[in-house]
Amino acid sequence: MDSFTTHFSHAITRRPARSIVDGLRADDGGNPDFDLFLQHHEIYVAELKKTGAKVTELSALEEFADCVFVEDTALCLKEGAIIMRPGAPSRAGEAAAMRPTLEKYFKDVRDIEIGHIEGGDILVTAREILVGRSERTDSEGVASLRKCVADWGYTVRELQTPPDVLHFKTDCGLLDENTILSTRRLADTGCFEDYRVLYTAEGEEASANAVCFNGVVLMPAGFSKTAEMLKAEGYQVVEIPNTEAAKVDGGMSCLSLRLTPNI
Ligand code: GLY
Repeated sequence: MDSFTTHFSHAITRRPARSIVDGLRADDGGNPDFDLFLQHHEIYVAELKKTGAKVTELSALEEFADCVFVEDTALCLKEGAIIMRPGAPSRAGEAAAMRPTLEKYFKDVRDIEIGHIEGGDILVTAREILVGRSERTDSEGVASLRKCVADWGYTVRELQTPPDVLHFKTDCGLLDENTILSTRRLADTGCFEDYRVLYTAEGEEASANAVCFNGVVLMPAGFSKTAEMLKAEGYQVVEIPNTEAAKVDGGMSCLSLRLTPNI
């Protein structure tokens, strides 16, 4: 049976804003090239569509440099959507801007009311929701998420994102119901003890933010050892150029909201 955690009928993306050159980043490796970013984004969207998903492509919001990273604005589950409360002040307004779109797809749209939490810190598996505290996500935000999803039957497990790692999912991605691709530094914290873990190759930690979408593992191009390992494990891998998003700490999961509407 296809899992609700890896199979979706729809995705939402947002075209990168020209202001992405001012996007937040932990280390300054230079500004992204807007035209190249756009080309990469178009490839990403095309790959989502190839799986049969309907992709809603939203317009850029120039006032929000990081708006292309839509995953941070909301969490979509079978029962409804939850609007996040980003911990980065410059990104706060992005979440509210996503609400009207999600209201078209879900009968029940809820809000994180206290604390801060970003979608990049949330990994949903078939049995639980894992959330890593980070510079962007705090315990109050995790508690608020727990309250939002309690009557939908979800268990929320609070974890810690390793120091100097932007988001929990910077270092991991769900490959199937029971398998997580992870860096060693994250898995070594013990957070995935009940799962099968496949590790990124040494020096290829930046490939951990992979996403399984309708049977295809989307991963950033340029990490051949990890890609070969995943193929040898039987996964269908699609490598997508991501050099420009990587300059502003963005990856495969950050670029979309993946959902199956209930309206
Ligand atoms: N540049 C993506 C973020 O920091 O949220």
